[in-house]
Amino acid sequence: MTDESKNKVDMNEIVSLCKRRGIIFPSSEIYGGLGSTWDYGPLGVELKRNVKDAWWKAVVQEREDMVGLDAAILMHPKTWEASGHLESFTDPLVECRFCNQRFRADQIWRVEFVGQDGKPVHRTTLGTSQKEVIESFREEARRHQPNGLFSVKGLTELTEEDYRTLRCPSCDSVDSLTKSRMFNLMFKTFMGPVEDEASQIYLRPETAQGIFVNFENVLNSSRRKMPFGIAQIGKSFRNEITPGNFTFRSREFEQMEIEYFVKPGTDEEQLKSWVEERFQWYINLGIKRENLRIRPHGKEELAHYAKACYDIEYSFPMGWSELEGIANRSDYDLKQHTQYSGRDLSYFDEETGERYVPYVIEPSGGVDRAILAFLVDAYYQEEVRGETRVILRLHKALAPVKVAVLPLSRNEKLLPMSQEVYKSLKRHWMVSYDDAQSIGRRYRRQDEIGTPLCVTIDFQSLEDKAVTIRDRDSMEQIRVRVEELKDVLHQKLSEE
Ligand code: GAP
Repeated sequence: MTDESKNKVDMNEIVSLCKRRGIIFPSSEIYGGLGSTWDYGPLGVELKRNVKDAWWKAVVQEREDMVGLDAAILMHPKTWEASGHLESFTDPLVECRFCNQRFRADQIWRVEFVGQDGKPVHRTTLGTSQKEVIESFREEARRHQPNGLFSVKGLTELTEEDYRTLRCPSCDSVDSLTKSRMFNLMFKTFMGPVEDEASQIYLRPETAQGIFVNFENVLNSSRRKMPFGIAQIGKSFRNEITPGNFTFRSREFEQMEIEYFVKPGTDEEQLKSWVEERFQWYINLGIKRENLRIRPHGKEELAHYAKACYDIEYSFPMGWSELEGIANRSDYDLKQHTQYSGRDLSYFDEETGERYVPYVIEPSGGVDRAILAFLVDAYYQEEVRGETRVILRLHKALAPVKVAVLPLSRNEKLLPMSQEVYKSLKRHWMVSYDDAQSIGRRYRRQDEIGTPLCVTIDFQSLEDKAVTIRDRDSMEQIRVRVEELKDVLHQKLSEE
C-alpha cells in the first residue's frame, strides 16, 4: 500500500459507500429521515460489533484491573442533579425569528473588513473557533485591502448596534437572530402514566454516571483493590443544537467509557498512561499515526467536573476533531453522589489503613466516531488496469466479512464443493457467498466492503481439491489444498 493511492477523502464518498453497501443508513428514511440519527445496516452492525469487541478485549479481557458493567439508560433524576448535568450540561442557543433555524451562539461570528473605499464591510459566518474563521477569511480580507486587516468577533463581544447587523447564516435575513439563551442538552421523558414534573426523567447524556452510582456495588461484589476500573459500552443521548458531519455528531450515539479509580496523588501519572494506551489502541487497529494527534484542553474548555483533559483527535474530512477524551475527573463525581445519596462512597485501603475518596481517570470514546475514523482512514481509490478500485483497507479484526467464497461461475458442477467450503468456513467467521456476475466484479464488491480474503473455487478445484486465496490489499493469489484452507485462513487473518 502506498500513500500515493490515498486520495483526500470526501465525506460524501463515505456516506454514499455506507448507504450503497448497507453499512449506515439515515434513520426512518422512508419518512424523510429524523435529524441526525443513523441506523447500522447488515455490514455496519458487524463492523460496530467488531469495534466494540476490540475495545472490550483491550480494556477488560486483557487487563487484570478492569471489570465490565451494563447499566440502565434511565436513571434516578437525582443522578443528574448530583453530576451537575442539570445545571451545567448546556449550550448557548440563538434562533432566527424568520426561518426558525437554530444555531450554537458560540459558533456565530461577525467578520468586519475595511473595504477599498475605507468603509466597513461585514459578514456573518459559522465556525467552531475564532482561529478557524480567521484562517478562512484571510484571503478575502487581502482582496479588500493590501494590508488584509479584518476583525472577527463572537456574539458576546458585539455592541447592540453590531448585533442588529448580523445576518441569519441560513436564510440571510438581517436583524433576525434572537438573544442567546442557555439550552440543556438532555432529552426529557416521563416515567409512568402521569406526565408531570414529579415523573420527569432523562435519557442519559453519558454512560459514566451508571458507573459512578454502581461504584459501591462493584467494589463489594468483586472485591477489587485500588487502582481498578469499570468499563461500559452503551447508548447516550444529547439534544445537540448543531449535529452533523454524518455520524460524527448525532443525537443518539454509543459511547465506550472507562472510569478508572485511583489513589489521589497518583492521578496525573495514571492520566498520562491512559492517554498513551488509548492513542496506541487506534494505531494497533490500523489508523495512520499522521492522522492522529493529542491535544491538551485549555483551562477555559474543561468540563465542569474535569481537573485536566486530553483529546485524541483524528484528521476527519472536515478537519481535526475529537475522537476520544481522556479526563481527570478528580473526586468530583464520587463526592457529589455521596452528598446527594447519603451513601459513603469512599474506599478503605486495608493494607495501609487509609480511607479516601478515589480520583477518577476517564477515557471516553464514541463508538460511532471511532467507526467513522476507521472508515475514513481505510478508504482508498486506486487505478487497476484502467478501472477504479474502491477499497476499504480495514484492519482484519474490524472487517465486517472476513472471507468471501466465490465459485468461478454458476455452473452446477461447482456448486456442491463451493457450498461445502462456504458452510465449513461459516462456523469460524463471518463469511459471504457470492456467485453473481464476473469474478472481477465480485472481487471489487468485496474490496469495497473491506473483505480481507476471497476464496475462489474453479474447475481445477474439482480435480486437485485445491482453491485460490486472493488477498485484498496486494491482490496476490495463492493455491491451497482444501484440507489446509481453514488453517491458512486462520493464519492470514491473525497476521498484523
Ligand atoms: N463522560 C465524558 C463524556 O461524555 P464527551 O467528550 O462529552 O465526554 C465522549 O464525550 C466521547 O463521546 C466523544 O469523544 C465522542 O467520541 C463521543 N460523543 C460525544 N458526543 C457525541 C455526539 N453528539 N455524537 C457522536 N459521538 C459523540
